[in-house]
Amino acid sequence: MSRLFRSAVLAIAAFGSAVLAQTSTTCNPLNSTCPADEALGQYADFDFTSSVTNPSVWNQTSTPITFGGNGSVFSIAKHGDSPTMNTNFYIMWGSVSVVMRCSDGPGIVSSIVLLSDDLDEIDWEILGSNKTHVETNYFGKGNTTTYNRAIYYPVSPSPQDNFHNYTITWTKDKLEWLIDGRSLRTLNYGDALGGQQYPQTPMKIYLGAWAAGDPAEPKGVQEWAEATTDYTKGPWTMNVKNVYIQDGSTGAEYSYGDMTGSYQSIKTKAGTSLIVQALNTPIGPGAHWRALSPATRAGIIIGSIAGFALFVLTILFLCIRSTRKGLKEAAKADAEWEAQQKEAVEWQKRYNADRASTIGSQKSLAHYR
Ligand SMILES: *[C@@H]1O[C@H](CO)[C@@H](O)[C@H](O)[C@H]1NC(C)=O
Ligand SMILES: *[C@@H]1O[C@H](CO)[C@@H](O)[C@H](O)[C@H]1NC(C)=O
Ligand SMILES: *[C@@H]1O[C@H](CO)[C@@H](O)[C@H](O)[C@H]1NC(C)=O
Ligand SMILES: *[C@@H]1O[C@H](CO)[C@@H](O)[C@H](O)[C@H]1NC(C)=O
Ligand SMILES: *[C@@H]1O[C@H](CO)[C@@H](O)[C@H](O)[C@H]1NC(C)=O
Ligand SMILES: *[C@@H]1O[C@H](CO)[C@@H](O)[C@H](O)[C@H]1NC(C)=O
Repeated sequence: MSRLFRSAVLAIAAFGSAVLAQTSTTCNPLNSTCPADEALGQYADFDFTSSVTNPSVWNQTSTPITFGGNGSVFSIAKHGDSPTMNTNFYIMWGSVSVVMRCSDGPGIVSSIVLLSDDLDEIDWEILGSNKTHVETNYFGKGNTTTYNRAIYYPVSPSPQDNFHNYTITWTKDKLEWLIDGRSLRTLNYGDALGGQQYPQTPMKIYLGAWAAGDPAEPKGVQEWAEATTDYTKGPWTMNVKNVYIQDGSTGAEYSYGDMTGSYQSIKTKAGTSLIVQALNTPIGPGAHWRALSPATRAGIIIGSIAGFALFVLTILFLCIRSTRKGLKEAAKADAEWEAQQKEAVEWQKRYNADRASTIGSQKSLAHYR
Protein backbone atom coordinates (compact mmCIF):
# COMPACT_ATOMS: atom_id res chain seq x y z
CA MET A 1 0.00 0.00 0.00
CA SER A 2 1.00 3.63 -0.64
CA ARG A 3 4.45 5.15 -0.88
CA LEU A 4 5.50 3.32 2.19
CA PHE A 5 4.91 0.17 0.24
CA ARG A 6 6.70 1.33 -2.89
CA SER A 7 9.30 -1.31 -2.21
CA ALA A 8 6.50 -3.81 -2.16
CA VAL A 9 6.99 -7.16 -3.67
CA LEU A 10 4.41 -8.35 -6.08
CA ALA A 11 3.57 -11.92 -6.65
CA ILE A 12 1.10 -13.74 -8.76
CA ALA A 13 -0.76 -16.42 -6.92
CA ALA A 14 -1.33 -19.88 -8.08
CA PHE A 15 -4.90 -18.62 -8.33
CA GLY A 16 -3.92 -15.78 -10.64
CA SER A 17 -4.42 -13.02 -8.10
CA ALA A 18 -1.69 -10.83 -6.77
CA VAL A 19 -0.89 -9.53 -3.35
CA LEU A 20 1.40 -6.90 -1.97
CA ALA A 21 3.38 -7.01 1.18
CA GLN A 22 5.63 -4.60 2.90
CA THR A 23 9.21 -5.73 2.54
CA SER A 24 11.25 -3.11 4.30
CA THR A 25 11.31 -1.66 7.75
CA THR A 26 13.58 0.87 9.44
CA CYS A 27 14.83 -1.66 11.93
CA ASN A 28 13.94 -5.32 11.68
CA PRO A 29 13.98 -6.96 15.14
CA LEU A 30 14.55 -10.35 13.49
CA ASN A 31 18.15 -9.40 12.71
CA SER A 32 18.84 -6.23 14.73
CA THR A 33 18.39 -4.78 18.16
CA CYS A 34 15.77 -2.10 17.67
CA PRO A 35 14.40 0.72 19.80
CA ALA A 36 11.31 -0.19 21.82
CA ASP A 37 7.88 0.48 20.33
CA GLU A 38 5.73 3.11 22.03
CA ALA A 39 2.52 1.44 23.16
CA LEU A 40 -1.06 2.62 23.18
CA GLY A 41 -1.77 0.39 26.18
CA GLN A 42 -5.40 1.45 26.42
CA TYR A 43 -8.49 2.31 24.39
CA ALA A 44 -8.58 5.36 22.14
CA ASP A 45 -11.02 6.67 19.62
CA PHE A 46 -10.51 9.28 16.96
CA ASP A 47 -13.31 11.33 15.46
CA PHE A 48 -11.97 12.76 12.20
CA THR A 49 -15.23 14.63 11.52
CA SER A 50 -14.65 17.08 14.33
CA SER A 51 -10.93 17.26 14.88
CA VAL A 52 -7.63 17.14 13.10
CA THR A 53 -4.99 14.70 14.25
CA ASN A 54 -2.27 15.34 16.75
CA PRO A 55 0.96 14.91 14.72
CA SER A 56 2.72 13.16 17.55
CA VAL A 57 -0.07 10.56 17.62
CA TRP A 58 -0.79 10.18 13.86
CA ASN A 59 1.88 10.64 11.21
CA GLN A 60 0.97 11.70 7.68
CA THR A 61 2.75 11.23 4.39
CA SER A 62 3.34 14.11 2.04
CA THR A 63 0.02 14.04 0.13
CA PRO A 64 -2.14 16.24 2.35
CA ILE A 65 -5.13 14.79 4.17
CA THR A 66 -7.97 17.15 5.08
CA PHE A 67 -10.61 16.79 7.78
CA GLY A 68 -14.30 17.65 7.66
CA GLY A 69 -17.89 16.46 7.82
CA ASN A 70 -17.10 13.20 6.01
CA GLY A 71 -14.08 12.59 8.17
CA SER A 72 -10.51 12.54 6.91
CA VAL A 73 -10.29 12.93 3.15
CA PHE A 74 -7.66 10.89 1.29
CA SER A 75 -7.74 12.29 -2.20
CA ILE A 76 -5.99 11.10 -5.35
CA ALA A 77 -5.89 13.56 -8.23
CA LYS A 78 -2.65 12.88 -10.04
CA HIS A 79 0.24 10.50 -10.50
CA GLY A 80 2.24 10.19 -7.26
CA ASP A 81 -0.62 10.98 -4.87
CA SER A 82 -0.79 8.46 -2.05
CA PRO A 83 -2.26 10.02 1.08
CA THR A 84 -1.48 7.84 4.08
CA MET A 85 -1.60 8.29 7.80
CA ASN A 86 -0.34 5.97 10.50
CA THR A 87 -0.34 5.77 14.25
CA ASN A 88 2.98 6.44 15.89
CA PHE A 89 1.94 4.02 18.63
CA TYR A 90 1.68 0.24 18.55
CA ILE A 91 -0.83 -2.27 19.83
CA MET A 92 -0.10 -5.83 20.95
CA TRP A 93 -3.32 -7.77 20.29
CA GLY A 94 -6.57 -5.85 20.45
CA SER A 95 -9.12 -4.54 18.01
CA VAL A 96 -9.31 -1.84 15.37
CA SER A 97 -12.55 -0.54 13.87
CA VAL A 98 -12.47 1.96 11.01
CA VAL A 99 -15.62 3.64 9.74
CA MET A 100 -14.67 4.20 6.14
CA ARG A 101 -16.11 5.00 2.73
CA CYS A 102 -13.71 3.63 0.14
CA SER A 103 -12.41 5.45 -2.86
CA ASP A 104 -13.77 4.60 -6.23
CA GLY A 105 -11.76 5.16 -9.39
CA PRO A 106 -10.06 2.61 -11.62
CA GLY A 107 -7.09 1.03 -9.92
CA ILE A 108 -7.43 3.07 -6.73
CA VAL A 109 -6.98 1.00 -3.56
CA SER A 110 -8.32 1.93 -0.13
CA SER A 111 -6.47 0.20 2.64
CA ILE A 112 -6.38 -0.42 6.35
CA VAL A 113 -3.15 -2.12 7.31
CA LEU A 114 -1.74 -3.27 10.62
CA LEU A 115 2.00 -3.67 10.32
CA SER A 116 4.76 -4.62 12.75
CA ASP A 117 8.50 -3.89 12.71
CA ASP A 118 9.27 -7.46 11.68
CA LEU A 119 6.64 -7.27 8.92
CA ASP A 120 3.72 -9.18 10.31
CA GLU A 121 0.79 -7.67 8.52
CA ILE A 122 -3.03 -7.68 8.61
CA ASP A 123 -4.90 -6.06 5.72
CA TRP A 124 -8.15 -4.78 4.37
CA GLU A 125 -7.79 -3.71 0.74
CA ILE A 126 -10.70 -2.42 -1.31
CA LEU A 127 -10.32 -1.92 -5.04
CA GLY A 128 -12.00 1.17 -6.45
CA SER A 129 -13.23 -0.72 -9.47
CA ASN A 130 -14.82 -3.52 -7.49
CA LYS A 131 -18.09 -2.41 -5.90
CA THR A 132 -19.12 -5.84 -4.65
CA HIS A 133 -16.12 -7.42 -2.91
CA VAL A 134 -13.51 -6.48 -0.32
CA GLU A 135 -10.15 -8.18 0.18
CA THR A 136 -8.70 -9.48 3.44
CA ASN A 137 -5.11 -10.59 3.77
CA TYR A 138 -2.26 -11.26 6.19
CA PHE A 139 1.46 -11.92 6.26
CA GLY A 140 3.90 -13.27 8.83
CA LYS A 141 7.46 -11.97 9.20
CA GLY A 142 7.47 -10.47 5.72
CA ASN A 143 7.30 -13.93 4.19
CA THR A 144 5.83 -13.49 0.75
CA THR A 145 6.37 -17.00 -0.50
CA THR A 146 2.74 -17.93 0.06
CA TYR A 147 0.35 -15.95 -2.01
CA ASN A 148 -2.98 -17.62 -1.57
CA ARG A 149 -3.90 -15.79 1.57
CA ALA A 150 -5.93 -12.99 0.03
CA ILE A 151 -9.62 -13.78 0.32
CA TYR A 152 -12.40 -11.62 -1.13
CA TYR A 153 -15.80 -11.30 0.51
CA PRO A 154 -19.03 -9.79 -0.78
CA VAL A 155 -20.22 -6.59 0.85
CA SER A 156 -23.27 -4.46 0.22
CA PRO A 157 -24.26 -1.75 -0.19
CA SER A 158 -21.19 -0.81 -2.17
CA PRO A 159 -18.12 0.14 -0.11
CA GLN A 160 -17.38 3.10 -2.41
CA ASP A 161 -20.77 4.76 -1.86
CA ASN A 162 -21.36 3.87 1.77
CA PHE A 163 -19.59 3.99 5.08
CA HIS A 164 -18.96 0.57 6.61
CA ASN A 165 -17.35 -0.42 9.87
CA TYR A 166 -14.21 -2.44 9.05
CA THR A 167 -13.06 -4.29 12.13
CA ILE A 168 -10.12 -6.48 12.95
CA THR A 169 -10.06 -8.34 16.24
CA TRP A 170 -6.73 -9.87 17.04
CA THR A 171 -5.78 -12.17 19.91
CA LYS A 172 -3.05 -14.75 20.31
CA ASP A 173 -5.58 -17.43 19.41
CA LYS A 174 -7.37 -15.95 16.42
CA LEU A 175 -7.63 -13.12 13.98
CA GLU A 176 -11.02 -12.02 12.73
CA TRP A 177 -12.16 -9.61 10.00
CA LEU A 178 -15.66 -8.16 10.44
CA ILE A 179 -17.81 -5.72 8.48
CA ASP A 180 -20.54 -3.92 10.39
CA GLY A 181 -20.26 -6.56 13.07
CA ARG A 182 -20.59 -9.45 10.60
CA SER A 183 -17.67 -11.86 10.79
CA LEU A 184 -16.20 -12.60 7.36
CA ARG A 185 -13.02 -14.45 8.08
CA THR A 186 -11.33 -16.14 11.02
CA LEU A 187 -7.70 -17.17 11.05
CA ASN A 188 -6.73 -19.38 13.96
CA TYR A 189 -3.16 -19.29 15.24
CA GLY A 190 -2.53 -22.83 14.08
CA ASP A 191 -3.92 -22.14 10.60
CA ALA A 192 -0.91 -19.97 9.76
CA LEU A 193 1.80 -22.57 9.23
CA GLY A 194 1.45 -23.90 12.78
CA GLY A 195 1.50 -20.34 14.11
CA GLN A 196 4.84 -19.45 12.47
CA GLN A 197 3.15 -17.16 9.98
CA TYR A 198 0.55 -15.86 12.42
CA PRO A 199 0.77 -12.05 12.96
CA GLN A 200 1.97 -11.80 16.55
CA THR A 201 4.12 -8.72 17.11
CA PRO A 202 3.28 -5.08 18.04
CA MET A 203 1.48 -3.33 15.21
CA LYS A 204 1.00 0.22 13.97
CA ILE A 205 -2.19 1.11 12.10
CA TYR A 206 -1.97 2.58 8.58
CA LEU A 207 -4.84 4.12 6.61
CA GLY A 208 -4.38 5.17 3.02
CA ALA A 209 -5.32 5.28 -0.61
CA TRP A 210 -3.01 4.68 -3.55
CA ALA A 211 -3.13 4.15 -7.26
CA ALA A 212 -2.23 0.50 -7.85
CA GLY A 213 -3.52 0.95 -11.39
CA ASP A 214 -1.03 3.73 -12.14
CA PRO A 215 0.60 2.98 -15.50
CA ALA A 216 3.98 3.26 -13.75
CA GLU A 217 3.17 0.34 -11.44
CA PRO A 218 4.33 -3.13 -12.44
CA LYS A 219 1.96 -4.94 -14.77
CA GLY A 220 1.00 -7.45 -12.09
CA VAL A 221 0.06 -4.71 -9.65
CA GLN A 222 -2.16 -3.14 -12.26
CA GLU A 223 -3.76 -6.51 -12.94
CA TRP A 224 -4.42 -7.02 -9.26
CA ALA A 225 -6.01 -3.55 -9.19
CA GLU A 226 -8.39 -4.80 -11.89
CA ALA A 227 -8.03 -1.52 -13.82
CA THR A 228 -5.64 1.09 -15.15
CA THR A 229 -5.86 4.48 -13.42
CA ASP A 230 -6.89 7.27 -15.77
CA TYR A 231 -6.34 10.47 -13.79
CA THR A 232 -8.48 12.55 -16.14
CA LYS A 233 -11.49 10.74 -14.60
CA GLY A 234 -10.51 11.78 -11.03
CA PRO A 235 -10.09 13.00 -8.44
CA TRP A 236 -11.19 10.17 -6.13
CA THR A 237 -11.51 10.20 -2.38
CA MET A 238 -11.53 7.79 0.51
CA ASN A 239 -13.10 8.99 3.78
CA VAL A 240 -12.53 7.82 7.33
CA LYS A 241 -14.96 9.16 9.90
CA ASN A 242 -13.87 7.29 13.00
CA VAL A 243 -11.17 4.96 14.20
CA TYR A 244 -11.56 2.96 17.39
CA ILE A 245 -8.48 1.24 18.71
CA GLN A 246 -8.24 -1.04 21.70
CA ASP A 247 -4.79 -2.20 22.62
CA GLY A 248 -5.02 -5.77 23.90
CA SER A 249 -2.13 -5.12 26.27
CA THR A 250 -1.28 -2.39 28.74
CA GLY A 251 2.02 -0.62 29.22
CA ALA A 252 4.29 2.12 27.87
CA GLU A 253 6.53 0.16 25.51
CA TYR A 254 6.77 -3.14 23.70
CA SER A 255 10.11 -4.61 22.78
CA TYR A 256 11.44 -7.78 21.18
CA GLY A 257 13.18 -9.96 23.76
CA ASP A 258 14.93 -12.00 21.06
CA MET A 259 15.05 -12.43 17.28
CA THR A 260 12.37 -15.10 16.93
CA GLY A 261 9.50 -12.72 16.23
CA SER A 262 7.38 -14.89 18.51
CA TYR A 263 4.74 -13.29 20.71
CA GLN A 264 6.28 -15.01 23.73
CA SER A 265 9.38 -12.90 23.18
CA ILE A 266 7.55 -9.57 23.37
CA LYS A 267 8.30 -7.67 26.56
CA THR A 268 6.18 -4.92 28.02
CA LYS A 269 7.44 -1.98 30.03
CA ALA A 270 4.88 -0.72 32.53
CA GLY A 271 3.65 2.86 32.47
CA THR A 272 2.18 5.32 29.98
CA SER A 273 3.98 6.07 26.72
CA LEU A 274 4.94 9.59 25.64
CA ILE A 275 2.56 9.23 22.70
CA VAL A 276 -0.34 8.47 25.00
CA GLN A 277 0.62 11.46 27.12
CA ALA A 278 0.43 13.54 23.93
CA LEU A 279 -2.88 11.89 23.07
CA ASN A 280 -4.18 12.94 26.44
CA THR A 281 -3.17 16.54 25.87
CA PRO A 282 -5.93 18.14 23.82
CA ILE A 283 -4.86 20.53 21.08
CA GLY A 284 -6.51 23.70 19.74
CA PRO A 285 -8.95 26.19 21.25
CA GLY A 286 -11.74 24.59 23.27
CA ALA A 287 -10.01 21.27 22.89
CA HIS A 288 -10.24 20.43 26.58
CA TRP A 289 -13.97 20.85 26.42
CA ARG A 290 -14.28 18.96 23.13
CA ALA A 291 -12.07 16.20 24.39
CA LEU A 292 -14.52 15.40 27.17
CA SER A 293 -17.03 12.67 26.45
CA PRO A 294 -20.59 13.78 25.66
CA ALA A 295 -21.63 12.20 28.97
CA THR A 296 -19.06 14.26 30.88
CA ARG A 297 -20.01 17.40 28.99
CA ALA A 298 -23.70 16.72 29.69
CA GLY A 299 -22.78 16.13 33.33
CA ILE A 300 -21.04 19.48 33.53
CA ILE A 301 -23.95 21.28 31.86
CA ILE A 302 -26.51 19.52 34.05
CA GLY A 303 -24.31 20.20 37.06
CA SER A 304 -24.18 23.90 36.24
CA ILE A 305 -27.90 24.10 35.64
CA ALA A 306 -28.59 22.15 38.79
CA GLY A 307 -26.28 24.45 40.74
CA PHE A 308 -28.07 27.50 39.43
CA ALA A 309 -31.49 25.96 40.06
CA LEU A 310 -30.46 25.14 43.62
CA PHE A 311 -29.43 28.76 44.12
CA VAL A 312 -32.72 30.11 42.73
CA LEU A 313 -34.76 27.64 44.78
CA THR A 314 -32.90 28.58 47.94
CA ILE A 315 -33.64 32.26 47.40
CA LEU A 316 -37.25 31.53 46.58
CA PHE A 317 -37.59 29.27 49.60
CA LEU A 318 -36.08 31.91 51.88
CA CYS A 319 -38.32 34.66 50.52
CA ILE A 320 -41.45 32.59 51.05
CA ARG A 321 -40.29 31.58 54.47
CA SER A 322 -39.44 35.03 55.68
CA THR A 323 -42.70 36.47 54.41
CA ARG A 324 -44.64 33.71 56.12
CA LYS A 325 -42.90 33.50 59.42
CA GLY A 326 -41.79 37.05 59.95
CA LEU A 327 -38.52 38.59 60.96
CA LYS A 328 -37.86 36.33 63.91
CA GLU A 329 -38.02 33.30 61.71
CA ALA A 330 -35.99 35.08 59.08
CA ALA A 331 -33.06 35.38 61.45
CA LYS A 332 -33.16 31.62 61.88
CA ALA A 333 -33.48 31.21 58.13
CA ASP A 334 -30.43 33.41 57.64
CA ALA A 335 -28.42 31.04 59.75
CA GLU A 336 -29.75 28.11 57.75
CA TRP A 337 -29.02 29.92 54.55
CA GLU A 338 -25.47 30.41 55.70
CA ALA A 339 -25.19 26.72 56.44
CA GLN A 340 -26.63 25.87 53.04
CA GLN A 341 -24.22 28.30 51.42
CA LYS A 342 -21.35 26.49 53.09
CA GLU A 343 -22.74 23.23 51.83
CA ALA A 344 -23.11 24.67 48.36
CA VAL A 345 -19.49 25.85 48.45
CA GLU A 346 -18.43 22.38 49.55
CA TRP A 347 -20.49 20.90 46.75
CA GLN A 348 -18.91 23.25 44.23
CA LYS A 349 -15.41 22.33 45.46
CA ARG A 350 -16.11 18.63 45.18
CA TYR A 351 -17.62 19.15 41.77
CA ASN A 352 -14.59 21.13 40.60
CA ALA A 353 -12.29 18.46 41.92
CA ASP A 354 -14.29 15.79 40.05
CA ARG A 355 -14.17 17.80 36.90
CA ALA A 356 -10.44 18.37 37.22
CA SER A 357 -9.88 14.67 37.66
CA THR A 358 -12.13 13.90 34.69
CA ILE A 359 -10.06 16.21 32.52
CA GLY A 360 -6.88 14.79 33.97
CA SER A 361 -7.87 11.20 33.48
CA GLN A 362 -9.04 11.42 29.96
CA LYS A 363 -6.85 8.37 29.76
CA SER A 364 -9.98 6.34 30.08
CA LEU A 365 -10.84 8.05 26.79
CA ALA A 366 -14.50 7.42 26.60
CA HIS A 367 -14.35 10.26 24.01
CA TYR A 368 -17.38 10.74 21.92
CA ARG A 369 -18.83 7.41 22.92
C1 LIG B 1 17.21 -7.92 8.09
O1 LIG B 1 16.05 -8.52 7.54
C2 LIG B 1 15.40 -7.76 6.56
C3 LIG B 1 14.12 -8.47 6.21
O2 LIG B 1 14.33 -9.78 5.93
C4 LIG B 1 16.32 -7.57 5.39
O3 LIG B 1 15.68 -6.79 4.39
C5 LIG B 1 17.57 -6.88 5.86
O4 LIG B 1 18.47 -6.78 4.80
C6 LIG B 1 18.19 -7.65 6.99
N1 LIG B 1 19.29 -6.89 7.52
C7 LIG B 1 20.40 -7.44 7.88
C8 LIG B 1 21.43 -6.51 8.44
O5 LIG B 1 20.59 -8.62 7.76
C1 LIG C 1 6.20 10.04 9.17
O1 LIG C 1 6.00 9.99 7.76
C2 LIG C 1 7.12 10.45 7.02
C3 LIG C 1 6.72 10.48 5.56
O2 LIG C 1 6.30 9.20 5.13
C4 LIG C 1 8.31 9.53 7.27
O3 LIG C 1 9.43 9.99 6.59
C5 LIG C 1 8.60 9.52 8.77
O4 LIG C 1 9.61 8.60 9.05
C6 LIG C 1 7.36 9.13 9.53
N1 LIG C 1 7.60 9.24 10.96
C7 LIG C 1 7.19 8.30 11.83
C8 LIG C 1 7.50 8.57 13.24
O5 LIG C 1 6.58 7.30 11.47
C1 LIG D 1 -19.91 14.16 2.24
O1 LIG D 1 -20.08 13.26 1.16
C2 LIG D 1 -21.32 13.41 0.48
C3 LIG D 1 -21.43 12.32 -0.55
O2 LIG D 1 -20.33 12.33 -1.41
C4 LIG D 1 -21.38 14.81 -0.15
O3 LIG D 1 -22.61 14.98 -0.79
C5 LIG D 1 -21.22 15.85 0.95
O4 LIG D 1 -21.16 17.13 0.37
C6 LIG D 1 -19.95 15.59 1.73
N1 LIG D 1 -19.90 16.50 2.88
C7 LIG D 1 -18.85 17.25 3.12
C8 LIG D 1 -18.93 18.11 4.32
O5 LIG D 1 -17.84 17.23 2.41
C1 LIG E 1 -14.67 -8.23 -7.60
O1 LIG E 1 -13.94 -9.22 -6.92
C2 LIG E 1 -14.52 -10.51 -6.96
C3 LIG E 1 -13.66 -11.43 -6.10
O2 LIG E 1 -12.34 -11.42 -6.55
C4 LIG E 1 -14.61 -10.97 -8.39
O3 LIG E 1 -15.25 -12.23 -8.45
C5 LIG E 1 -15.40 -9.96 -9.21
O4 LIG E 1 -15.40 -10.33 -10.56
C6 LIG E 1 -14.79 -8.57 -9.06
N1 LIG E 1 -15.62 -7.58 -9.74
C7 LIG E 1 -15.12 -6.75 -10.62
C8 LIG E 1 -16.09 -5.78 -11.20
O5 LIG E 1 -13.93 -6.75 -10.96
C1 LIG F 1 7.67 -18.84 4.32
O1 LIG F 1 6.45 -19.50 4.07
C2 LIG F 1 6.59 -20.73 3.37
C3 LIG F 1 5.23 -21.24 3.02
O2 LIG F 1 4.28 -20.98 3.99
C4 LIG F 1 7.38 -21.69 4.24
O3 LIG F 1 7.53 -22.91 3.58
C5 LIG F 1 8.73 -21.09 4.57
O4 LIG F 1 9.41 -21.91 5.47
C6 LIG F 1 8.57 -19.71 5.16
N1 LIG F 1 9.86 -19.08 5.29
C7 LIG F 1 10.31 -18.61 6.43
C8 LIG F 1 11.66 -17.97 6.39
O5 LIG F 1 9.65 -18.66 7.46
C1 LIG G 1 -17.75 -1.76 14.65
O1 LIG G 1 -17.83 -3.17 14.73
C2 LIG G 1 -17.26 -3.70 15.94
C3 LIG G 1 -17.24 -5.20 15.82
O2 LIG G 1 -18.51 -5.72 15.66
C4 LIG G 1 -18.10 -3.21 17.11
O3 LIG G 1 -17.53 -3.69 18.31
C5 LIG G 1 -18.06 -1.68 17.11
O4 LIG G 1 -18.89 -1.21 18.15
C6 LIG G 1 -18.53 -1.13 15.79
N1 LIG G 1 -18.30 0.29 15.79
C7 LIG G 1 -19.19 1.15 15.31
C8 LIG G 1 -18.82 2.57 15.38
O5 LIG G 1 -20.26 0.78 14.85
